[in-house]
Amino acid sequence: MLTRRRTIVAGGSLIAGSTLFGAPSGAQPGRFTTPLPVPPLIDAQAQGNSIRLVAQTGRHAFVEGRPVATYGYSGPVLGPTIRMQSGAQVDVAIENRIDTDTIVHWHGFLIPSERDGGPHDHIAPGETWRRVLPVQQPETTAWYHPHPHRDTGRQVYFGMAGLVLIEDGSGARLDLPRTYGVDDLPLVLQDRLFDGNGDLIYPANPMTVMQGARGNTIIVNGAIAPIARVPAGLVRLRLLNGSNARNLDLGFDDGRPLHVIASDGGYLGSPVSMTRLLIAPSERFEILVDFSDGRPAVLQTGPDPFPPMMGMMMGRGQSAAGDIMSFAPDRDRPGAKRKIPSTLVDMPAAAPSAQLLRRRFALNDMGGMMGGMGGMMGRGMMGGMMGGGMMGGGMMGGGMMGMGRGGSGLGINGQSFDMQRIDVAVALDSREVWEVSAQSMAHPFHVHGVQFRILSLDGAAPPPHLQGWKDTVLVSRSAELLIHFTQPALRAHPFMFHCHILEHEDAGMMGQYVCA
Ligand code: C2O
Ligand code: CU
Ligand code: CU
Repeated sequence: MLTRRRTIVAGGSLIAGSTLFGAPSGAQPGRFTTPLPVPPLIDAQAQGNSIRLVAQTGRHAFVEGRPVATYGYSGPVLGPTIRMQSGAQVDVAIENRIDTDTIVHWHGFLIPSERDGGPHDHIAPGETWRRVLPVQQPETTAWYHPHPHRDTGRQVYFGMAGLVLIEDGSGARLDLPRTYGVDDLPLVLQDRLFDGNGDLIYPANPMTVMQGARGNTIIVNGAIAPIARVPAGLVRLRLLNGSNARNLDLGFDDGRPLHVIASDGGYLGSPVSMTRLLIAPSERFEILVDFSDGRPAVLQTGPDPFPPMMGMMMGRGQSAAGDIMSFAPDRDRPGAKRKIPSTLVDMPAAAPSAQLLRRRFALNDMGGMMGGMGGMMGRGMMGGMMGGGMMGGGMMGGGMMGMGRGGSGLGINGQSFDMQRIDVAVALDSREVWEVSAQSMAHPFHVHGVQFRILSLDGAAPPPHLQGWKDTVLVSRSAELLIHFTQPALRAHPFMFHCHILEHEDAGMMGQYVCA
């Protein structure tokens, strides 16, 4: 059984032996032998717009023959894909059958905050949470995942996450591939750390808090190096980077294009053809891939182009790079004759008026991280690392550590997350420009309750595939976001904004806003 206490202790002792002091080889099962698992599809409308999920423990063999303890929704790992119609009121019941508090957050949804499942909400073990979700937004791929106060990273890591397909008829109108599990495949991409025995390790220690939990193995829908049989035609892939911290730099081994048709909040104005696609934690992209040549192709990732500074020092910047999964087009199943549409939906120009309120959000990491080390040491969690001589010298031994400051030190605008403090009050139905900046590493910045537009990244216009609706943006230096606040949030249930490196979020790189 997974318990909060056990996983942290076990992870803490194992990390020192594996991640920090020698790169493990990772779990290496047979390459492309496991058929791609496809999460079951729940069509909300077909069951009266009433759905039920059970947060549960289970056992799942990521590595063949090596089942490990996991969390999942209504299954041992991950959760069903839920299809919802825009305009529907979907009645959701979530039963908590794990041994600690949890809550389910509807990431990417435009719904009032008291239904959004943030850390002010919780489901105690044995209890059931019920809300009606008023689904009212353009067609997109959203997702759901745990968001309990200070335990989000661990719960996601052990398996809780699922996709939501919000539909409004535009995919059908555009005749996009839409047969779930056949030519419309959900791909939940995650990295995980396996030790030599195939055990799944959550490396919870101060290093992980700084760089986020990173693995040596990429899994797709819970499988290592799977193979998908697809029709020899146009196939739609719904990509979610469900990793706790790692950015993926995707591309095919044969250089075939990825035609990006949608980002977090819906379709782009028109498809964008790319050969490499960077996807940060919690971002979604939908892509079309043409397999009509009938030739197999391997989806790969390069090393994280934004490794954490600690990772570079440790030579770990290149973890889990390489093949992700393979696609085997079935020449006997050519699939419908389809072309990639030249335009998708109307995308209004993102042109802010000059008088919009501007706010600044500085994501504090490096200074904070050093403070974090001090704070964690005060709580006695440094044992393994100290014993290994990690702290012996170099920059870590210097006087910049802010020892004993307490807390993690990771924060926003110099403050660590506080449930009792409202950081920002915005006016309902107003537009604002949020200027977000990072310090020493790139952070995927996410805002609840909105889909925004990126005005600039590092001072330049965003590339075309980042010009549509977004709820998460990877900020390496700076970003300007144009945000329209349409959902109410009262003090008892504020909306969150945070870094989606889940260990940063859990450690305090999060703030909250009300909207009325
Ligand atoms: Cu997906 Cu507050 O997060
Ligand atoms: Cu969210
Ligand atoms: Cu971060």
